[in-house]
Amino acid sequence: MPIKILLLENIHPCAREALLEEGFQIDNEKGALSEKQLMDLLPGYQAVGIRSKTQLTGKLISGQKHLQAIGAFCIGTNQIDLAEANKWGIPVFNAPYSNTRSVAEMVIAEMISLSRQLGDANMAAHRGEWLKSAKGSFEVRGKTLGIVGYGHIGSQVSVLAESLGLRVLYFDIVKKLPLGNARGTDSLDELLANADFVSLHVPETQLTKNMIALKQFEKMRKGSFLINASRGTVVDIEALAGKLRSGHIAGAAIDVFPLEPQSNEEKFLTELQGLKNVILTPHIGGSTEEAQEAIGREVAQSLIWFLKFGVTLGSVNFPQVNVPPKTGGQRLINVHKNVPGVLGQLNGIVSNAGVNIKAQYLSTDQHIGYVVVDMEAEDSTVANVSEQVKSLPTSIKTWLA
Ligand code: NAI
Repeated sequence: MPIKILLLENIHPCAREALLEEGFQIDNEKGALSEKQLMDLLPGYQAVGIRSKTQLTGKLISGQKHLQAIGAFCIGTNQIDLAEANKWGIPVFNAPYSNTRSVAEMVIAEMISLSRQLGDANMAAHRGEWLKSAKGSFEVRGKTLGIVGYGHIGSQVSVLAESLGLRVLYFDIVKKLPLGNARGTDSLDELLANADFVSLHVPETQLTKNMIALKQFEKMRKGSFLINASRGTVVDIEALAGKLRSGHIAGAAIDVFPLEPQSNEEKFLTELQGLKNVILTPHIGGSTEEAQEAIGREVAQSLIWFLKFGVTLGSVNFPQVNVPPKTGGQRLINVHKNVPGVLGQLNGIVSNAGVNIKAQYLSTDQHIGYVVVDMEAEDSTVANVSEQVKSLPTSIKTWLA
């Protein structure tokens, strides 16, 4: 029987193609489905692929004995009850870094736009006003960019900015290898005091909440610019609006907000509307056709590696196991409650059947254990071993890959 996968919400076609190539059977639905619809449909599938609109609630996931994996074809996984999925032995795979380059390119575009006041000149020209002037317009070449958070996006911005002739400083709470000629600073204050552009690329945490507020704006150079395409909670918007009005900050490009509309139909309001040299965008830093395709490819690949070989690497709610592809023999996979003695019982069953274990891979988290066992024996013997392992009271899911 081929593995059946249900793909919802217009996932990029490259995902379907990749999964079909592996011989999986794919059903597509254009939109998101309701809890009731999914309740009826899910038992017929080994994997489901969703984007951000489908809610995979605890109620829905609970009891899904047949469902082996969830593909979140997006960045966030808030729409899925990850703990319940873990409890039922269902790994969730997403694509957190597929849009890194898209965000980095937008930040570079914004830096140049702010420095040349392109947004304001554009809006004026649309209104029929001719604002030809060099005043307050600068090249970015030779200026200093300060990057806060030197992770996937921050470090990409660093490489692109250096190629335009900017000096790059960065601040990160973790020690990071500088790329090119970028230099790490010892403190956020040191970065703020020395940068012409400050670009934020930190996650949303307790430490980053209002990380750039009045005190920090005062540390920034007069006439400098702020770019935030990270998370809305990182910047105190009221303080930013004040500093823009006073002219201390010469411009800002903001893509993320503390409160964002839930849909394109909802009205968007911020104190930054109408301020000079301010670029406002609706959280589109990572929204490109390329990123959508990369997400499709990346999550489909994770599902393939898991369903074919048992690789759980990159899953957001599961013990991480990286296993090589099977080279002959049979592969038994077992998800179990993380209690003492499980491995002993499992290996006891295998050895009582007179089967030789070629390789074994185990990883655990607080609640569950995940073990992959490669063995060589007659198919019927292995099937018998699998049935016995399945019937252990500690077993959550057991299958042969
Ligand atoms: P990442 O995890 O690769 O990098 C984050 C970096 O920030 C890490 O190096 C970490 O050590 C550092 N960091 C954490 N707390 C810090 C602190 N208090 N001070 C200084 N550094 C700190 O994340 P990635 O992929 O680079 O994403 C960065 C941000 O961009 C995230 O907030 C993410 O949600 C956001 N994002 C926004 C998108 C958009 O459409 N605007 C699209 C994709 C990501």
